[in-house]
Amino acid sequence: MNICCIGAGYVGGPTMAMIALKCPDITVTVVDMNAARIAAWNTGNLPIFEPGLDEVVKQARGRNLFFSTDVAGHIKQADIIFVAVNTPTKTYGVGAGRAADLRYIESVARTIAEHAESNKIIVEKSTIPVKTADAIQTIVASNSKGLKFQGLSNPEFLAEGTAVKDLSNPDRVLIGGERTPDGDKAVAALAGVYAHWVPRDRIITTNLWSSELSKLVANAFLAQRISSINSISALCEATGADVDEVANAIGKDSRIGPKFLKASVGFGGSCFQKDILNLTYLCESFGLPEVAAYWNSVVGINDWQKRRFAGRIVKELFNTVADKKIAVLGFAFKKDTNDTRESAAIAVCRDLIAEQAQVVVYDPKVPAHEIIHDVVGNAHEEPRLTVATSAYEATKGAHAIAIVTEWDEFKTLDYAKILAGMQQPAFLFDGRNILDLPRLRALGFRTSGIGK
Ligand SMILES: NC(=O)c1ccc[n+]([C@@H]2O[C@H](COP(=O)([O-])OP(=O)(O)OC[C@H]3O[C@@H](n4cnc5c(N)ncnc54)[C@H](O)[C@@H]3O)[C@@H](O)[C@H]2O)c1
Repeated sequence: MNICCIGAGYVGGPTMAMIALKCPDITVTVVDMNAARIAAWNTGNLPIFEPGLDEVVKQARGRNLFFSTDVAGHIKQADIIFVAVNTPTKTYGVGAGRAADLRYIESVARTIAEHAESNKIIVEKSTIPVKTADAIQTIVASNSKGLKFQGLSNPEFLAEGTAVKDLSNPDRVLIGGERTPDGDKAVAALAGVYAHWVPRDRIITTNLWSSELSKLVANAFLAQRISSINSISALCEATGADVDEVANAIGKDSRIGPKFLKASVGFGGSCFQKDILNLTYLCESFGLPEVAAYWNSVVGINDWQKRRFAGRIVKELFNTVADKKIAVLGFAFKKDTNDTRESAAIAVCRDLIAEQAQVVVYDPKVPAHEIIHDVVGNAHEEPRLTVATSAYEATKGAHAIAIVTEWDEFKTLDYAKILAGMQQPAFLFDGRNILDLPRLRALGFRTSGIGK
């Protein structure tokens, strides 16, 4: 069997590497129009950082895992084509700021229609609005070669930072297909790929629309838990309750459960916000404004939480941060990834710069040029923003530290040494609640956590 995956990003790369590792009898080729990305997948310096991914790629690459820019050639050879291209929020026209931009999906469908020379199973791996399979089907079916294309939905549930673990031991694999004999055959073929390592009872099959919608709903529910606890964090700060203690107390209830109850400066990443906006746009399109408003508030609380964090820094630093040096520790949207898309750090840096602070960022995995680009865009250099090569360098002479990403190395820094090099009084804002704040207070820091 030959598998081709179009899109060598955070999903296509790791997902296909895992399929290749677990299925030595299947040839897997990941293709992308981004030649630099493909070149990086073929080196020892992979384009994305994920714990354990280097080893998986090393084992399978050159054996049955390949990375190529020859999109057309590998479409021709493939039995199954995964589509793992990006589906960002639309920035123009109708639905701007909310609807998914499906231009990459459509262009892939047209490329498949143009180059396919045999029947194919086309698997939507990207997260897309419900009914996108219809559009793909219409485009590929319009080729005049009389070929059969069977569309499946197989959304990806991996979390960045734990992608390898999630892929090797998924809670479930979801496959949606048409309820027809050909549809059932395609579902069975894809289930057979995953069955190389995933127990059959964890491979769920549904109709196409349930599968497409489940991915948006899963992300909406996950994000909703974060916004729920973050909304409570503000109440904790006002009342003297401790949000970690509240989360622990409610999480012991088996109906609620302990996961995704960590208060923080806010969620980031390429998916949560985009997928909720997409969901709300869908609801409105189907005449359900009340449902849209409900889910929209999850994004609203997240934006508010990010602003609230920056606002608290300003307030506690005697209502002015102008020309004060603030060390921002962490820039990736979460630990163990170099992905910065929608990271809370971007909003925090921008707000502090708007207040004329001197912001110095340190992140163990994100390159300096990317940090600067994310905060100020292409426009110009921002003299108020610099990037340090260590936490110690970033905090030297600073008035305050803001922890924005929960990197493990921030838990074991020598905070006594850091304090000695800072302006006094020295402030520490823990946006992820990863530090022992009473201990830091005893050292001499003025500390604030989220919901504390
Ligand atoms: N990142 C995650 O954690 C995650 C998790 C689950 C689902 N998803 C979904 O998976 C999809 C991909 O996400 P990602 O984070 O991997 O995106 P990404 O931007 O990292 O990768 C997408 C890749 O597709 C390529 N591409 C776009 N159009 C192409 C075309 N016509 N031909 C060839 N290559 C093309 C781009 O060059 C890019 O390298 C999105 O729909 C996303 O919502 C992402």
